[in-house]
Amino acid sequence: MSGKSDMKLIDGGVRLDGRKPDELREIRMKVGVLDNAQGSAYLEWGNNKVLAGVYGPREMHPKRLQNPTEATVRVTYNMAPFSVDDRKRPGPDRRSVEISKICSEALTSVVQTHMYPNAAIDVFVEILQADAGTRCAGLTAASIALADAGIPMKDLVASCAAGKIGEEVVVDLMKEEDNYGEADVPLAIVPRTGDVVLLQMDGKLSEEEFNKAFDLAYEGCMKVYEIQKKALSEVQK
Ligand code: CDP
Repeated sequence: MSGKSDMKLIDGGVRLDGRKPDELREIRMKVGVLDNAQGSAYLEWGNNKVLAGVYGPREMHPKRLQNPTEATVRVTYNMAPFSVDDRKRPGPDRRSVEISKICSEALTSVVQTHMYPNAAIDVFVEILQADAGTRCAGLTAASIALADAGIPMKDLVASCAAGKIGEEVVVDLMKEEDNYGEADVPLAIVPRTGDVVLLQMDGKLSEEEFNKAFDLAYEGCMKVYEIQKKALSEVQK
């Protein structure tokens, strides 16, 4: 996120991919795509392609990590080596550890963890193709994979980012916008209550711009929520 490029990311209210400032990329979701996971989902969000698989609740190993009053939701976010322009070195790095942690925390806030003491609920998020916004896409897919697994939840988690490109605040940045834009604000909410379960900011925004970005991301989350519910109602197993 340099914001220093001369690249014109928005011209007359039209973005590089033809979108308007408040327009999301096309999103498609399908649940129940993996036979060997308890719950799963495949999601395409613009050029992002994400697979999520859920295992559990099952006994937590190693045992010393067991919580005697609650289940532990563990998210492992992983980018495939072929998911980005330059081959990504396989295995965890600082970024994937951070994203795994924030996704675990966001999902823990909706899962009825008290129902499964000592258990682990493992969620694997595999980024097959990345084009910015993968934490939002991963969280969105993970949330419907958990629902597909039949894990009791208070609600889904829906996620979407907004940010600033040039002088404009826009929703759902794609890679060029993320790389050369001014700021990116990923958000995740619990739509039923409006609770915010993830809010990060990369770059600089004035208070007014931040408020606008938050509102755009929030609206984006609500649109994502509708698509999630539709995907879950279309499950075929
Ligand atoms: O993906 P997200 O926006 O949640 O996270 P980011 O750290 O802001 O990364 C933005 C984008 O940079 C990713 O979605 C990828 O398209 C790209 N990226 C990359 O090309 N190589 C990496 N090692 C990490 C990210």
